[in-house]
Amino acid sequence: MSVLAADAVGIDPAVARVVREGLTQRHKRLPPWLLYDAEGSRLFERITTLPSYYLTRAERAVLEQHGPEIVEAAGPCNSAGAIDEVVELGAGTATKSQLLLRVLVARDGATRFVPVDVSAAPVNAARARLARDLPTVTVAPRFQHHEAALAALAAIPARRLVLFLGSSIGNLEPAEAASLLRAVRACVTPTGALVLGTDLRKSPDVLVPAYDDPEGVSAAFNKNVLARINRELGGTFDLGAVRHVAEWNGAGSRMDMYLESTREQAVFIAALGLTVRLAAGERIHTESSRKYGLEDVDALLGGAGLERWRTWTDAGGRFAVHVAGRPGAARS
Ligand code: AVI
Repeated sequence: MSVLAADAVGIDPAVARVVREGLTQRHKRLPPWLLYDAEGSRLFERITTLPSYYLTRAERAVLEQHGPEIVEAAGPCNSAGAIDEVVELGAGTATKSQLLLRVLVARDGATRFVPVDVSAAPVNAARARLARDLPTVTVAPRFQHHEAALAALAAIPARRLVLFLGSSIGNLEPAEAASLLRAVRACVTPTGALVLGTDLRKSPDVLVPAYDDPEGVSAAFNKNVLARINRELGGTFDLGAVRHVAEWNGAGSRMDMYLESTREQAVFIAALGLTVRLAAGERIHTESSRKYGLEDVDALLGGAGLERWRTWTDAGGRFAVHVAGRPGAARS
């Protein structure tokens, strides 16, 4: 087999770098963003429809039931004027944000929507759907990473509502979450607000099946990261000898996802010229999904100079949507 250079056409240098870094550590790990190539995004969409994956349905129920109150609480705190734009981090197909956009349009007549996503296909689908369903919404996408988009937006004064839904914050390491929230703060203060979705801490009896479903979609989603390395970097992972593991980590209040090799294997990754040895039972950490109490959310927001103004949960008390902004500026 020929050895491909990491900068050869078709190889993403960022993918090559994190795979080399992550698989040459003593405790092997891959960053969660690597899970989302086209196939991973398709599998994640399927996860959101599974009976055991309650998060998406619960958050949608909150937005459907409390949309007007959420928009009211998040509205500019210093006047009755309209919000200039709604920014959604990791917008994807923007189906949940459309619920809030609908409320805003009913209140203000029109608004601007800035979906932020590195993947163009779902955002373009959202744009076409919004043009049909909510024609007074102007869509101005940013195909950038979250912090780059937030930094660019923060330089332009506007009353903004930033949406970070789906408990995606739970997939970030604490330092990454803090850094992102500081960037959000620069974008929403003094007059705007953040709408943040967080999964709530609950029994592992509910959490484990959400991340290890009987249909095997979560396992396929997790294993796809190795299939991606095989596809994009010429890897030789034997996916038949890898097991999906989803464990509750009580001390960290999070679900931890791993891929565990069921036998000893030496994996050659051609694009990196690298051989990775996995012992039988050895794990690669691929993702953590943090679960929060309200005190955790307050600490997270407070550390970034934001304050939780209001919180709504679904009827089952599984998922929370918060509105946050400048401390002391909550609308009554
Ligand atoms: C995108 N994110 C909020 C999901 C979660 O629940 O942490 C990703 C996921 N991983 C496995 N299942 C879902």
